[in-house]
Amino acid sequence: MNIYDINRFAAAVLGTILFVIVLIVAGNFIFEVDELERNAFGEIETTTPEATAEAGAESGAEAEAGGAVSLAALLAQGSVEAGQRMAKRCTACHTFEKGGRNGIGPNLWGMLGSPRAANDGYKYSGALSDLGGDWGYAELDAFLEKPKSAVPGTKMSFAGIKDAQDRANLILYLRSVSDVELPLPPTGG
Ligand code: HEC
Repeated sequence: MNIYDINRFAAAVLGTILFVIVLIVAGNFIFEVDELERNAFGEIETTTPEATAEAGAESGAEAEAGGAVSLAALLAQGSVEAGQRMAKRCTACHTFEKGGRNGIGPNLWGMLGSPRAANDGYKYSGALSDLGGDWGYAELDAFLEKPKSAVPGTKMSFAGIKDAQDRANLILYLRSVSDVELPLPPTGG
């Protein structure tokens, strides 16, 4: 081994170490962002006046057991602002403002409570346009949880949103980007 070989060897080792460090730092960053989001939502949940002690206890249980709290209750205790932050996940493909352009996906102004695949200027998949019916709260919730399961064959390439409260917040935001605000579903029972 001459001095150049040693240098090259040292550079390769250093490069590998640097790469691993970058991976670790990037991993931590992603993890932290996730934590922050959850904390922010947790705070919103506890400070919402409508959130009764009972609903609070239930939503804790729901996080563990899954599905204990109704969509209506999650909507009642949800936050439009949190939903607007969540909607950033959609903006690669969708616009939300009135008269906004269609992108990879259709503009979503006034979509809640309207017929599915109703945007004339947008070319939907057969899967979605053949489905018919309206985007009600339950339909939208199922679609946003797992688009490809709710509407097999849809061309919306989005994995879905697992957390039910995150979806409810997002639906509240979608409800707000409309000329008419669809009445919230009743929470009784
Ligand atoms: C990678 C691109 C992409 C992302 C990200 C995405 N969508 Fe979509 N979305 C589409 C496409 C494409 C369609 C059309 C689906 C079809 O025709 O099957 C669609 C359709 C829809 C529809 C049906 C609209 C109608 O007029 O019937 C809704 C509602 C919707 N998306 C909501 C959302 C929301 C909310 C988000 C964010 C959580 C989101 N999408 C994220 C691409 C995307």
